[in-house]
Amino acid sequence: MKFGIYYIRRLFTGLVLLIMQPPVNAQPASSTEIKISDLVKKMTLEEKVAMIHATSSFTSGGVARLNIPELVMSDGPHGVRVEHGRDWEADKNVYDSGTYLPTGVCLAATWNPQLGYEFGKVLGSEASYRGKDVILGPGINIIRTPLNGRNFEYQSEDPYLVSRMVVGYIKGVQGQGISACVKHYLANNQEVNRNFVNVHMSERALREIYLPGFKAAVTEAGVNTVMGSYNLFRGQYATQNSYLVNEILKKEWNFKGALISDWGAVHNTMEALWNGCDLEMGTDLSMLPNPRYDKFFMGDTVTKLVRTGKIPESLLDEKVSRILYVMAKTTMLDRNRKKGEYNTIAHQQTAGTVAEEGIVLLKNENNILPLTASIKSIAVIGYNAVRKQSMGGGSSQVRAFYEVTPLEGLKKLAGNKSSITYSPGYKIERGATADPALIQQAVEAASKAEVAIIVAGWTHGYDYSVWSDNAYDAEDTDKPDLQMPFGQDELIKAVLKANPKTIVVLMGGGPVDMTQWIQDTKGIIQAWYPGMEGGNALAKIIFGFVNPSGKLPMTFPKKLGDVPAHKLGTYPHDEKKNLYYQDDIYVGYRYYDTYKIAPEFAFGYGLSYTSFSYSNLKVLASGKKVTVTVSVKNTGAVAGADVVQVYVHQQESALARPEKELKGFQKIFLKPGESREVVITLNEDAFQYFNDRLNKWVMEPGVFEIRVGNSSRDIRLSGKVKL
Ligand code: GLC
Repeated sequence: MKFGIYYIRRLFTGLVLLIMQPPVNAQPASSTEIKISDLVKKMTLEEKVAMIHATSSFTSGGVARLNIPELVMSDGPHGVRVEHGRDWEADKNVYDSGTYLPTGVCLAATWNPQLGYEFGKVLGSEASYRGKDVILGPGINIIRTPLNGRNFEYQSEDPYLVSRMVVGYIKGVQGQGISACVKHYLANNQEVNRNFVNVHMSERALREIYLPGFKAAVTEAGVNTVMGSYNLFRGQYATQNSYLVNEILKKEWNFKGALISDWGAVHNTMEALWNGCDLEMGTDLSMLPNPRYDKFFMGDTVTKLVRTGKIPESLLDEKVSRILYVMAKTTMLDRNRKKGEYNTIAHQQTAGTVAEEGIVLLKNENNILPLTASIKSIAVIGYNAVRKQSMGGGSSQVRAFYEVTPLEGLKKLAGNKSSITYSPGYKIERGATADPALIQQAVEAASKAEVAIIVAGWTHGYDYSVWSDNAYDAEDTDKPDLQMPFGQDELIKAVLKANPKTIVVLMGGGPVDMTQWIQDTKGIIQAWYPGMEGGNALAKIIFGFVNPSGKLPMTFPKKLGDVPAHKLGTYPHDEKKNLYYQDDIYVGYRYYDTYKIAPEFAFGYGLSYTSFSYSNLKVLASGKKVTVTVSVKNTGAVAGADVVQVYVHQQESALARPEKELKGFQKIFLKPGESREVVITLNEDAFQYFNDRLNKWVMEPGVFEIRVGNSSRDIRLSGKVKL
């Protein structure tokens, strides 16, 4: 039943829209709009059609006669991608190495929206330098299953954290005169059969979990482009989905920019034309090696449809106007964009700061960390200690200007104070299992050293020059399970036995199953894919030059069977490729905390080398606003940062609500002994939920608990307010 009513609603909406003309802007036309409409009036029908589809792998048509350039796009979310020729053949001998920023999850793990802005600024500046107009990022699909191969590119399981981080990022990019492209709209939460899976979810899950990040991108950050995703949504391809694009994106949110298809995501001319797709990209991929751009779904066919009166030219004009709007917002029409910068020290410093603030200290028993200068010998073990990750992962690949690996960072910082040995411990080869000789070599090294550091985890695939069909964190593939590959668990257990003073560093886009060794491991660090400065950031944290402040942007479950998307058996899809999000609004901690399932490490969790106390909580309501004030003190001996998290729990509601929901947070940096007051304002929307029986957001009067802590499961203080 939950899914049934939406098809009726959608059918009705579709019929209404079929009759309705595209929404007309009621405001008086701005100078940009006048300029755009003048340009459109001057165009021939053929010129208009040329603008709404690709003219090469990463460009869409311009109109030379009217001085309208091609729109030049590039991936990706954490760096400007290698140069692809106009026909997907990578350009040779071009200078296309750039700043390789930490990937999305590492940025989200900083819980620092200002850093999101700095991150976006670097990306926009480098895209501008490389002559791009649109950078195809951020990727913000909700992390619903830890197996999704592209989680590394995304941000979080929580819509509020996504919403806060995405705004800064987009403003940073677009402040450089470049358009961001928030993706993948919508519900591309796995890679298994991404082109055909038909996602169904309740209206409540849609509104409360999967839309908020995109809504913030459009209505708060003013993103200029949105990328439609491959999958179907309630039976219609997302990129040509009347409900998602015409109704929600363009009508409800008043989105003025362009909906760009994912590459090859358009499947039907009339649906794409009528249901809001403005620009068709990537259909050439199915035509290689002889791409015919005029034969796209939104190619010359459209000219015939207009000429024969099957579609009104105004429908085409609206798409062209939106593309010209993007060009106007990226200073392409008056070409006064400031010049970007490339591979600057400042860009590399931002990459380093994001890594330092995004790496998460998960375990630190007996304060095994940070390592003191007295440690004279360290055995570094694991292929991930030397592996360059930047070119992995798929379309988000970046040819890093340089990439400091964990081993390089550790050696550089240790200098001659400690002797550092290295042994691979495992092989990154298709289907490789534990290698006794490599394990023996690692065990010997560990037994001779005071401390061992194993750098393990996931990888971007075997051959980092391209992503392969056996990659673990990459596009177009999901992980088979949470078991670390290549016999890493056996390696870790053997090394721990040889030397209990062993630290495990995990790289990757999300959790692994740690059950075989976590009890015996005193130090665990989650390093994600920390970008070009990642090795330096990791070393600074291990040796105590930087106090870790990262907080998990997703829950680390004890085992895959605990994950709601898997527990309710809806992943990856049924025999007809339907995928029902039966977990509904209970994604991540909303599930674990409501159903009392203990995770390995909780959403919002991360340790520090210092400690923080919370006191003097005040919760004051004024109308439907609530001001939360709390004092935070650094009670330890070193400077550090904590993230004050505010969760809301409604005691009684007509429809069941999760046990808690994140509705506010603030990162605070404090010196030893320093105390500061944090003030977080909750507006009415922090107390609302979407009642999909009434089909509207509601704020039901009653008692709300305001729970304040530094992780979803470490609530330090709570108060109540009656609204
Ligand atoms: C890919 C990805 C998308 C990327 C696009 C262009 O298939 O899904 O994220 O931006 O194609 O490379």
